[in-house]
Order: sequence, then C-alpha cells, then structure tokens
Amino acid sequence: MQNGGETHFGYQSIPLEEKQGRVDDVFHSVARRYDLMNDVMSAGLHRAWKDALVTAVNPPKSTRPFKLLDLAGGTGDIAFRVADGGGPNTHVTVCDINAEMLAVGAERAEKRGLEGLVAFEQGNAEELGYADRTFDCATIAFGIRNVPRIERALSEAYRVLKIGGRFLCLEFSAVDVPGLDRLYELYSFQAIPRIGAMVTGDREAYQYLVESVRKFPRPKIFAGMIERAGFRRVSFRPLSGGIVALHSGWKL
Ligand SMILES: C[S@@+](CC[C@H](N)C(=O)[O-])C[C@H]1O[C@@H](n2cnc3c(N)ncnc32)[C@H](O)[C@@H]1O
Repeated sequence: MQNGGETHFGYQSIPLEEKQGRVDDVFHSVARRYDLMNDVMSAGLHRAWKDALVTAVNPPKSTRPFKLLDLAGGTGDIAFRVADGGGPNTHVTVCDINAEMLAVGAERAEKRGLEGLVAFEQGNAEELGYADRTFDCATIAFGIRNVPRIERALSEAYRVLKIGGRFLCLEFSAVDVPGLDRLYELYSFQAIPRIGAMVTGDREAYQYLVESVRKFPRPKIFAGMIERAGFRRVSFRPLSGGIVALHSGWKL
C-alpha cells in the first residue's frame, strides 16, 4: 500500500488515508442535531457569517442563469440562502461526502419548496465528478479544514469554475483581539465539547471541532494555498474579531 504520509485529526497525528473515515464518523454521528448545535454553540452567529458569504456570492436577482457549487455543503444552509436571494435561474448543487448530512439537507429543501433549485449530490471535494468550467461560483463553508488533501480540493474547485468565476471560503480562523482571544480559547475548550455532549451526545465530535480549528493554517498561509491553486486577486476578511475569515479568489 502506498503511504500517503501523516496528517492531523484534531490534535492526533494519524495516517493521511485514515482522516476521511474519521471525519465521516463525526458527521454521521451529529447530522440530525448539526443545525441545532450550530445555533447553540455560536449563539446564532453562524447565521451572520453565512449571510456575509452569500452577500459576497451575490447571486443575480434577474433571470440570468447562475450556477453555484456549494462544496461540503452538508445540510444546505448556504444553498438555501443563495436560492432565496437569487433569481429564478439560480441553481445550487450541494456536494458533500456524507449521505446523512445530505439527507437532512434534502428534507429541509423539500419543506422549503426548494427541491427544484437545489440539488444534493454525494461527492468528494478532492475529486469532483463535474466537467471543467461548469460553475459560476464555488463556495465552501466550514468544510475545508475537514478535507484531508486541501490542495486537491482547491485545484478541483478551480477546475470546475468557469473563467471569471469566484471561489469563496468561510472558515474558522485566528482571533486577533486581545482579551477576546483568551475568552474564545476558554469557551472553545471548556464549553463547546460539553455543550456538544449535551446536544448531540457526542463529546468527541466537538473536541475534534475545536482542535481542528486550531490546526487549520493561519489565514495568510491559507490565502497562499488558494493562490497556488491558480486563483487570482486572492483576499480574505476577518469576521467577529477573527473567529472566522472569509476568503476569496477569482479564476481569471
Ligand atoms: C462543518 S460541516 C459544514 C456544513 C455546511 N457547509 C455548513 O456550513 O453548515 C462540514 C461538512 O464537510 C463535509 N466533508 C468532509 N470531508 C469532505 C470531503 N472530502 N468532500 C466533501 N465534503 C466533505 C462533511 O460531511 C460535513 O457535511
């Protein structure tokens, strides 16, 4: 067997080829309570961060066709916001590796009457089953740090975007406000795993979450990775004191 090297699952060092299976177990376990937990854990703030991403996507209100690929799109939060904000020819494909997260998303889409505008498709962000230059925009929210081979996912996003298309990524980042950093650290490590245990019954899943946030590259380093995938005019914007960063790059 070819050795793919080592990576991190939270703070644990593990063989690269084991990471996806471990990540899949986390999201299988929490899928049914995932949306509730996001609200509880972030006190609703994740909604504002997702709104900021969708404002940057800026789907056309007109009848102009617009195709968005939401990678690691899970239960559909980004997709629903874009479908609600866009015109009648705005279509969103949610691509996620986890069937359980997609099933929750598909049920939510049906309740909102959005089945025609949002498609839920199982796939790996590292190896997309879409033709080159298919989408006008590709997003990934709180997904990239779970993908074992980030560079592959970035170059796949680049490949499936049309020329002139935009890549947008929302991810936890590094808090840079004195005082808030200490508070955030305490909240992350003392409170989140406990709240996760109460709400989802899976403490380890939320221990992984806080550790994986700390292991994710700092925003400038991640911006460099986006650039190396071929994107141009790469930039990022810290939100909520750097708890989260919104990254952007264009395929020009
Ligand atoms: C924290 S959730 C984010 C879900 C959604 N984007 C949101 O913001 O609510 C991370 C998602 O990444 C998905 N994921 C992990 N590895 C993936 C991969 N290699 N390809 C596609 N999706 C992946 C998980 O299944 C999970 O649904």
